[in-house]
Amino acid sequence: MVVVGKPFLTVEQIQKKVKELADQISGDYEGKDLLAIGILKGAFIFFSDIVRLIRTPLTIDFLIASSYLKAESLGEVKLHYDIREDVIDKDVLLIEDIVDTGVTLNYIRERILMRGPKSLKICTFLDKSGRREVDVPLDYVGFSIPNEFVVGYGLDYDNKFRNLPYISVFRKTA
Ligand code: IMP
Ligand code: MG
Repeated sequence: MVVVGKPFLTVEQIQKKVKELADQISGDYEGKDLLAIGILKGAFIFFSDIVRLIRTPLTIDFLIASSYLKAESLGEVKLHYDIREDVIDKDVLLIEDIVDTGVTLNYIRERILMRGPKSLKICTFLDKSGRREVDVPLDYVGFSIPNEFVVGYGLDYDNKFRNLPYISVFRKTA
């Protein structure tokens, strides 16, 4: 049986933080050519919430990536769908749901940097910094959280619970 408990981050806490991040980004990207890239699937809700609160003009794109943990290695990232937009001369902002080991974002970041954007920054809603194995520079972080598996607000366990409006700690019970 699986159990999803009471909110770890409530709808109100989430909304307040998304607004704060959007305000910061709006100021930092004034007059720039912002391309916001959402990393799917996990970031789909956070992405749609934050872009609606960013007040500077922007274009959007998405990519779909997933990482597989392998024994005795850091895990392998698979890119299922790549961006369509040209990043040259764009101020790219990667938008992610959660950074754990950092493997996924590091892979995506290096791939996009190779294509020569004008700038590249990263915004993640959650950061499990205690689990980091690859150092990735994070420019905007919603919440730093302890090493717990969380679901909701786009985040899943086995592709479920993404539609929970709040974030909850997830534990599997026998
Ligand atoms: P990383 O490559 O280890 O940083 O893993 C990042 C990806 O793992 C995220 O984009 C999520 O899809 C997934 N992930 C990591 N921690 C959690 C969690 O607590 N809940 C749900 N998904 C997670
Ligand atoms: Mg993700």
